Amino acid sequence: MLITPSRDNLNKIVILNPKGGCGKSTLATNIAACYAGRGPQPAIMDFDPQGSTMAWLKRRPDSLPPIHGIAAYKKSMQATRSWQLRVPESTVDLIVDSPASIGHDDLRELTRDSSSILVPVLPSAMDIDAASRCIADLLLVAKVNRNEGKLAVIANRTRKNTKSFGRLMRFLDSLGIPIIAVLRDTQNFVHAAEQGMGIHELPPSRVRPDKEQIDKIVTWLDGWEARRRRALQITSMRRRPFSGVTLLRKSQASSV
Ligand SMILES: Nc1ncnc2c1ncn2[C@@H]1O[C@H](COP(=O)(O)OP(=O)(O)O)[C@@H](O)[C@H]1O
Ligand SMILES: [Mg+2]
Repeated sequence: MLITPSRDNLNKIVILNPKGGCGKSTLATNIAACYAGRGPQPAIMDFDPQGSTMAWLKRRPDSLPPIHGIAAYKKSMQATRSWQLRVPESTVDLIVDSPASIGHDDLRELTRDSSSILVPVLPSAMDIDAASRCIADLLLVAKVNRNEGKLAVIANRTRKNTKSFGRLMRFLDSLGIPIIAVLRDTQNFVHAAEQGMGIHELPPSRVRPDKEQIDKIVTWLDGWEARRRRALQITSMRRRPFSGVTLLRKSQASSV
């Protein structure tokens, strides 16, 4: 069973899609590097037994802004699970990288109290099918409310003007889930990962279009508190005994 921390003011970003190789760790590391650059120090929690995010963190040069790493896939006999997974008190932004296959209980636990959920999707027929199952599970099993606006998709490794790209766009559009960024297929992501860096930390002239897309993701993520407030307002309005229409009719009646 996965355990993830919950704290009111924690910006918990969960990146998931059971399909391996769709770009979860690439997204997690690039988002973490962005947050690290602007501070305060973020934390990254790696639930994938392959540990690629932790390996990236080990390669990260000491000269770059630090990121706190939590190797959640490791089980320790010496420490309790919650001690092993503790997030420093000062952490504001936590990025959760998830494993390739997750059971229903773990999916619920992983997404509980999350501020944002990102699903990277590759534009092949098989990947689109896997992503649609993943999104259906998020809505039906993990009960992620679409009105909360915390679920978004990132189209990854795209080559524009291909048939599958168009299919991917139509599929997401039909679900009403936003595609907040479109990452191109480029070795820049591979080179950054090899050096323990985010795309922002490579020479700017080489990575401008990629950086723009990662910036779009971070800008969207930064809106999490406003999205949560809006969702709470919508919920409380729905709970009110009188609807706006009722009130309008009453005021019209009293003015006659
Ligand atoms: N936009 C991209 N362009 C080129 N290579 C990419 C891109 N996104 C991811 N990759 C590469 O694809 C491989 C799988 O990505 P990864 O983030 O590890 O996927 P996951 O964590 O979902 O298994 C890695 O080698 C990564 O560097
Ligand atoms: Mg991974």
